Amino acid sequence: MDSLLQKIYRMTRNDIVEARKHLVVGGGTPGPTLVRGKGVRVWDVDGKSYIDCTSQSWAMYLGFGNEEIAEALYEHSKNMTHIHQGFDSLPRFYLARELAKLAPGTLNRVSFTVGGGPAIEAAMKIALRNRKTSKEFIALWDAYHGTILSAASASWIATQASGRFTGQQNFLHMLHTVHRVPNPYCYRCYFGQQPDTCDLMCAEMLRLTLQRGVNGPAAGLLVEPVQASGGQIILPKRYLERVRQICNEFGVLLIYDEIQTYCRIGEWFAAIHYGVYPDIIVLGKGLGGGLPIAAIIIDDKLESFGMDVEELHTFANNSLAQVAAAKQIEIIERDGVLENTRRVGAYLAEHLQSLQQEFPEIGDIRQVGLHIGVEFIQDPKTKEPAVDKCVQIRDEGMKLGAIFGLGGARRNVLKIKPPLILKLDEADEILDILRQAIRRVLRS
Ligand SMILES: Cc1ncc(COP(=O)(O)O)c(C=O)c1O
Repeated sequence: MDSLLQKIYRMTRNDIVEARKHLVVGGGTPGPTLVRGKGVRVWDVDGKSYIDCTSQSWAMYLGFGNEEIAEALYEHSKNMTHIHQGFDSLPRFYLARELAKLAPGTLNRVSFTVGGGPAIEAAMKIALRNRKTSKEFIALWDAYHGTILSAASASWIATQASGRFTGQQNFLHMLHTVHRVPNPYCYRCYFGQQPDTCDLMCAEMLRLTLQRGVNGPAAGLLVEPVQASGGQIILPKRYLERVRQICNEFGVLLIYDEIQTYCRIGEWFAAIHYGVYPDIIVLGKGLGGGLPIAAIIIDDKLESFGMDVEELHTFANNSLAQVAAAKQIEIIERDGVLENTRRVGAYLAEHLQSLQQEFPEIGDIRQVGLHIGVEFIQDPKTKEPAVDKCVQIRDEGMKLGAIFGLGGARRNVLKIKPPLILKLDEADEILDILRQAIRRVLRS
C-alpha cells in the first residue's frame, strides 16, 4: 500500500480526537467515521457495517468501490486529472454529447460546473441572460437548492419552515429576495383540498404571484420535481403541467432542479418521467459516480453563456469527474440500472405500506424509484410531526446496521435512498431493520 495511505488508514482513535480539533464542518447529519464501502454497504473505523440508505448525500448511484469506475479513473488520471475551463477536452465533449442525447426535447447544450449550488446559480444566470428586463425569481415553499447564497435564498433553510430559523440567518444581508409560492404538498394541502380532484390552488398562487406579487417580469421559476430535502414531496404531474402553462403565459423560464431526481426516480430525468419539459435542467450529486461535478442542460432556444468571464470556475472542467460520469452512464445503460431502480423501489414501497398498517405513526409513504420518504406523525388525526421519534428510529436503525436519511422541512421524514444497484434481498434487509427500529421506538 502507498506509504501515505498507510498513514491515513492507520490513524488511531487518539489521532482522530486530535485531528478533529483542526476541522470545521458547516452542516450535515453526523454519522460514523467511514473507512470503506462495497456495493450498498459501508464500514466504519470499528469494523461495523451498514447498508447505506443515504448513498452518502444521495450521490453514490452505483454504490461503493465500483471497480469499473475505479479502473477508468486510474487509467485516465495517469493522463489528465484537471484541465482549465477555457481549453477543450475529449471527456468534456463526450459527456456533453451523451447528456444531450439523453435529455428530452430540445434541451441539448450542457455547461459544466463544480457543484449543485453553483449549477443552480448558473441556471439563474442563464435565466437572467434570456430575460434581460427581469431581476426576480420564484421558488416553492420547502424547496432546497443549496447553501451557496443565491441558492439558499430560494431554499427553506432561509425561512422558518421547520419552526425555527437555521444558521442561514447569519448571512441575511447577502441573501436575495426570492418569492416563494405554495408547494403541492398533498398530504398536508394548505388549501384543505383532496389530491387528484383539487383545483390546483397552489399552481394558481404562482399565477397570482406573477401578476401581483413581483416587481416586473420574473426571470425563472425553480422547481425540484421531487422536493427532496423539504420532505420527499412528489410533485403531481398535473401540477407541473399547469406550472408549465403558467410559465409559458408569463414568459418565465422553468428550471428543474434535477440534482436528486436524475436516475434516482428510475428515469434519466424527471422531465421524461413526467412528460413535462423545463427550459433548463440542473444536475449534480449522483451525476459524477461519486466525483464532484454538476451541470446545467439548456434548451436550444435559449442564449447560453458568452466567453467574457460570465461563468468561470477553476475546476469546472474536471476531467476525472467527467470520465466517471460518462462511465456511470455506460454502466447504467448496460446493466438496466434504471429498471432495477423502478422495480426495487416499488417493492420497498409495497412492503412499507404493510408496515404502515401495523404502525399508524407512519403518516405517509412517498416513493418514486429509489427516492423514498416515510413521514412520521404523532397521530393520524392531527398529523402532528413526530420529530423526536423519527430521529430515534434513525438512531436505532444505525445500531442495527442501516443508515437512514433524516430530513424534511418539518424534520419528520425518514429517507430511504440507497444506491440504485440495491437488490431485492438487500431491500428485505432494510425493511427488516426498519421494522425492528420502529418497534423499539414506538412499541417498547
Ligand atoms: C435538490 C438539490 N438541489 C441543490 C443542492 C445543492 O447541491 P450541492 O450540495 O452540491 O451544492 C442539493 C443538495 O443537497 C439538492 O438536494
